[in-house]
Amino acid sequence: MKPAIAVVGSLNMDFVVTTDHLPAPGETVLGRDFRMNPGGKGANQACAAGRLSPPQLRTYMIGRVGYDMFADHLKASLAAAGVDVSAVHATKSAPTGVALIWVDAEGQNSIVVAAGANLLLTKSEVEPMRPVFRQCGLALFQLETPVSTVQAALGAAREEGARTILDPAPARRLPEGMLEAVDLLTPNETEACILLGRPAGRVGLEEAPELAAELRSAGVGEVVLKLGDLGCYYSGPDGAYHVPGFAVEARDSTAAGDTFNGALAVALAEGKPMEEALRFANAAAAISVTRPGAQASVPTRQEVEEFLGARPGGEERPSG
Ligand code: RIB
Repeated sequence: MKPAIAVVGSLNMDFVVTTDHLPAPGETVLGRDFRMNPGGKGANQACAAGRLSPPQLRTYMIGRVGYDMFADHLKASLAAAGVDVSAVHATKSAPTGVALIWVDAEGQNSIVVAAGANLLLTKSEVEPMRPVFRQCGLALFQLETPVSTVQAALGAAREEGARTILDPAPARRLPEGMLEAVDLLTPNETEACILLGRPAGRVGLEEAPELAAELRSAGVGEVVLKLGDLGCYYSGPDGAYHVPGFAVEARDSTAAGDTFNGALAVALAEGKPMEEALRFANAAAAISVTRPGAQASVPTRQEVEEFLGARPGGEERPSG
């Protein structure tokens, strides 16, 4: 596989308030502390890929920011993780994306995104992405940039020889046929239900095989269903299985799914077999939930290896 990963997606500045419980509609709650952290689903995935990659593997971020004080900060955060940001362009027509995030005492969050410049990554920007895709074995996408752009870019990445990974977050229905350009789909439980037009709800291991099979019948090559602390469930041409998660004390789940995707991409680009790559991704995500923030919570390669080394197989969360 070509030794590079492209991430097409959003960059946001996250404004995070921790609180004892998340506010209900109409409720005012007192928060505890406030932080401003680099985030955005695309940038978080790129950060994870960059931070976890060995030196021979490159990560490219493709996205849009505004001309404002957040843009430089976001690019600097990615560059510090080893990500090439030369395809993150600034626009004068919109501000850099921001996300307002509440995190409760159990580490659960609520997020509202004002996408700003991320929405100006339009379909007309896809042709210039091709030279980047051409160098990459894998191309990662999410849904915080226009869906029409993601759809066109998935097709272009595939034509240039990259394997496509779509994280369908935030959850939404997708245009007819879009999933056919996806090699690997990584929804969480809610996203899987919404993609299939079902009521969103907690999915256990019992429902996972059926959900994954239904998604594959929509044209996706392989599905990894992210199941939170239960780990993940894989379904692909060579079979289907559960990869248990790791028991950790959750502090902030923000960007756990993004960390998972970045880590999975690195492991696959290195040629690890899928089951091993999923265990690596579960470990990176588990470490991230023990820390506050989005990109700030992404572990280093050494931390993931030490975490796995200390759990040679027996300390995962039971399969439920
Ligand atoms: O997945 C977490 C991310 O979602 C946050 O960093 C926030 O910016 C939103 O995009």
